[in-house]
Amino acid sequence: MRLIFLGPPGAGKGTQAKLLTERYGIPQLSTGDMLRSAVAQGSEVGKRAKAVMDAGQLVSDEIVNEIVSDRIEAPDCAKGFILDGYPRTVPQAIALDRMLEQKGMKLDAVIELKVDEGALVRRMENRVAETVAAGGNVRSDDNPEAFRRRLEEYRAKTAPLSAHYAGTGQLKTVDGMADVDTVSAEIEKILA
Ligand code: AP5
Repeated sequence: MRLIFLGPPGAGKGTQAKLLTERYGIPQLSTGDMLRSAVAQGSEVGKRAKAVMDAGQLVSDEIVNEIVSDRIEAPDCAKGFILDGYPRTVPQAIALDRMLEQKGMKLDAVIELKVDEGALVRRMENRVAETVAAGGNVRSDDNPEAFRRRLEEYRAKTAPLSAHYAGTGQLKTVDGMADVDTVSAEIEKILA
């Protein structure tokens, strides 16, 4: 099973991807997590990505395309994978189409989570509060200014992907405003 989750920041992509990981035994490939890990390790990619991510902007297509191309060939992806936060621009989607074709892989579905923007800000604030309460580190892009920029980047560069995947006939849309279990049940219906 090879899936893509599309949706704005805070839509629940990571939450739903984690649930499917457990159910299908395939990895969640979050480009955001991979980039944060590169930043934490201080690698070359991490050094290039940090300021861009902190500002709520998108890292270059070239960097993320290379990360994903390598990652989907890893042994744990043999049965499939869930792409969470990639592709995020039309050039990334075109690069992904090309890399899947070259590797002889096919996508099963592209699931878009539709959410009202007002709810997204509240979800980000909840995540910050929960992280602080648990004694964890708040994401450096979970603040009002960077979040506003992330939403702008989404509208300008990622929202056009819905039309791209509607055109290929792979797009499925789910109401991401429902509670986590209801969203999850809707996704299961699509995948059944
Ligand atoms: P990334 O880490 O991908 O962040 P994001 O897309 O902004 O998404 P989030 O992780 O904030 O939200 P989510 O949709 O996963 O929601 P979640 O499940 O966590 O990217 C970060 C940065 O990395 C980017 O800005 C960019 O700089 C860079 N980057 C990453 N990929 C890139 C790419 N391909 N190209 C270029 N740059 C890239 O849920 C959010 C909160 O809501 C949680 O607290 C959760 O508990 C809660 N919640 C979830 N579902 C529900 C529900 N149904 N009801 C109520 N609450 C819910």
